[in-house]
Parts: sequence; C-alpha cells; structure tokens
Amino acid sequence: MPRKLADRLSAVAPSATLAMAAQAARLRSQGHKVYPFSVGEPDFEPPRHVLDAAKAAIDKGVSHYTAVTGTPELKAAICAATERDRGYRPAPNEITVSCGAKHALFNVALGLYEPGDEVVIPAPYWVSYPEQVRIVGATPVIVETREDQGFRMDAASLERAITERTKAIILCTPSNPTGSAYAESELRALLDVVRRHDLWLVVDEIYADLTYDGFRHASVPAIAEDLRSRTIVISGVSKTYAMTGWRIGWSITPPELSKVLDIVQSQSTTNATAVAQVAAAAALSGPQDAVREMRDAFAKRRDRMVEGLRSIPGVRCRMPEGAFYAFADVRGLYGIPSPNGTIQTDLDVAMWLLEEAHVASVAGTPFGAPGYVRFSYACSESDIDGGIEAIRAAVTASRGGG
Ligand SMILES: Cc1ncc(COP(=O)(O)O)c(C=O)c1O
Repeated sequence: MPRKLADRLSAVAPSATLAMAAQAARLRSQGHKVYPFSVGEPDFEPPRHVLDAAKAAIDKGVSHYTAVTGTPELKAAICAATERDRGYRPAPNEITVSCGAKHALFNVALGLYEPGDEVVIPAPYWVSYPEQVRIVGATPVIVETREDQGFRMDAASLERAITERTKAIILCTPSNPTGSAYAESELRALLDVVRRHDLWLVVDEIYADLTYDGFRHASVPAIAEDLRSRTIVISGVSKTYAMTGWRIGWSITPPELSKVLDIVQSQSTTNATAVAQVAAAAALSGPQDAVREMRDAFAKRRDRMVEGLRSIPGVRCRMPEGAFYAFADVRGLYGIPSPNGTIQTDLDVAMWLLEEAHVASVAGTPFGAPGYVRFSYACSESDIDGGIEAIRAAVTASRGGG
C-alpha cells in the first residue's frame, strides 16, 4: 500500500503548459530559434534606479527579517502609489505584502475559502484561480463569457451563478489571458449584484497599468466606497515594473482580513524578501517614466501582433484593451494535417505551431477557453514579425500553397 498523500491535491491540475515548455526547450537546445509568444513576463529590465536602490540596500545591511506584512516604507509607498494611480488611498493596516501577487491570492484563498464554499470565476480565467480554490477545498464555479461581449461577465450571468454557498467572486481586469478589461460602467453593473448579496469581491489588478488607446482602468474601491469592507484588491510590481523575479505583490483588504493574512503568512513565508521590498518601494515612489515607455512599447507590439494574427487565414483575434496578450480564435485551423494526426483542438494547434513554425504559445483550454490560443507580445517587434511570418508560412504550406 503506498503511503497516503493529502486528498486536498487530488483534484488540482498540474500546469498544462509544461509539455509545451519541455518541447520548446528541446527545440532551443537543438539550436532552433523559438518565437517566445508563451511568456507571461515583460522582456524589459526594471528601471535603473530600482536596481540601484536594491544594491545600496544590500550594502547598508538590509539582510534581516522585516514585519510579516511588509516594511512601513513599502506600505507607505503602496498607499501613496495607489492614491496616485488608482484614485483612492488605502491605510497601511489594509496592506499585506507577499512573495508576488500569486502568493497574495493564495493567502486570501487560505484566509477566506473553505470546503462547501463556491467561488465564482469568469472564463477565460488565469489558470491559478480555480486551482487555488480547489487546493483549499472549495469549489470554483465557472461562468462562461463570450468573445462578442469582450470576454466580460455581465450582471445577469453573475446573478445566475450565485447560490447560498457563494463566498466570493474573482475578477481580473485587465485579464490574463484575454487582455479584456472592464469599463467603469460594466464594473458598476457587477458591483450592483455584489451589493445585493453577502459576498467577497477579489479584483486582480496586476495589469492595471498596462492599458492602451486611452482605456481608463477603474478600481473598485475608488468607485464603490461602500464595498470597501468586502473588496480585496490584488496587485504587485511584477508586470508594471518588469520585476517578476523580485517576487513582490500585495493585497489590499479590510483590516479584519489583513489580521488573518498576517497569521497565515507568519506561519508560512514570514515576510517577502527584505531587499526586494526596498526595490519595490523605489519602483513605486520613483520616477514613472519607464512605466510609460514600457506601456507605449507594449501598445505598438499589441497592434503588430493582433494585425499579424488577423492577417493569417483561419485565425481571428479581438483587439485587447490591456495586459500583453492577444487571445486568438484558432478554430479555423482545425482540419490541418499534422505529423500527429489532424488538428482538432487548440492544444493541437499550439503543439503544431511549436513544431511547424517554432512558435511557442499557450492553448486556451487550460484557461477554460477551448478553441483559443494565447499569444504573448511581451517580446521584441522583430520576434513578433518573425513569429507571424513563420505561422503564415506553416499555414500556407499546410494548405498546399508553399
Ligand atoms: C492575472 C495574474 N495575476 C497574478 C499573477 C502573478 O503575479 P506575480 O508574479 O506577482 O506572482 C499573474 C502572473 O502571470 C497574472 O497573470
């Protein structure tokens, strides 16, 4: 008899992108250029002054434990930056700094959800939302959205998904994987539903600084003061400042929940890395020019990627409002013959693109969106052009044209 492992993880899916990543690594090790449209992180470096602040901190001896929920300096920087960028000012005791936004979300899952609870998650969703809910024994309730509604959940669909067991709703705006973002009016319609029920609202704003064409991100606490007592905002420096490896994210929650998150974190990771907290504070408080420059670069890349994808027969792609992903409907490629048989799913498409065009992407199925593939444009314009041409050549050849 094998010794028993925790049941808790039996229903949790492993990362569905690992097979793809392994295949991409194999191609690279054979010396092939692989177009990197699968990445979830900016290819930029963090602003220079951030790196300098971290180096100075090391020399000054910032090497010890900090307060569990973050240094007073970083919390003050988060409060000021939230006021500057999101239009409301949280108090330091509402902030819990963690090892990245993913960790902040996981702490919230531990602090809020329990077996019997349902958590409403619109699809397409970021892969970790349902899995974190399952790890703590609660049940994700997936609400399908439609591309012709911008992949945004409407109030009626949310209302239908709510039962007496619903504990929370998780929204991601702008979204990974679709790049869709909720306009203030759309958000307000959802907030009316939240108001009518006794629910927690978790809003993941990790991409809020990356919106294009003048789209204005609306933060829930800024537009619904009355819901602050049950709103949880998740954010961090990973995407805005190209600081994924520094692992600094945070939650902004009512103080009653922050106290619980303090306990959860004090029994797991203690504090986020001390030097990384100094770097994050420098990023938030220092000049913001680099943020604008990176956003402008992403805007150009978005247009290039979306226009490129749209020019490929069999591929449709909506213009996203934010983040750095293009989410394309690839069902028009089904039926293409591939070395492993005929292409029948988005997973087949992603694998075929890797093998035939050396383009790494992520299939939609793990995001709860069969029929779609996510293309990250967090890479250079020449990579975007090269990858698009490689896809075009593979599609043309498959149809007997090349
Ligand atoms: C929607 C979303 N939330 C949270 C995260 C996690 O961010 P972090 O790297 O700060 O943990 C990601 C990273 O890909 C993300 O896409």
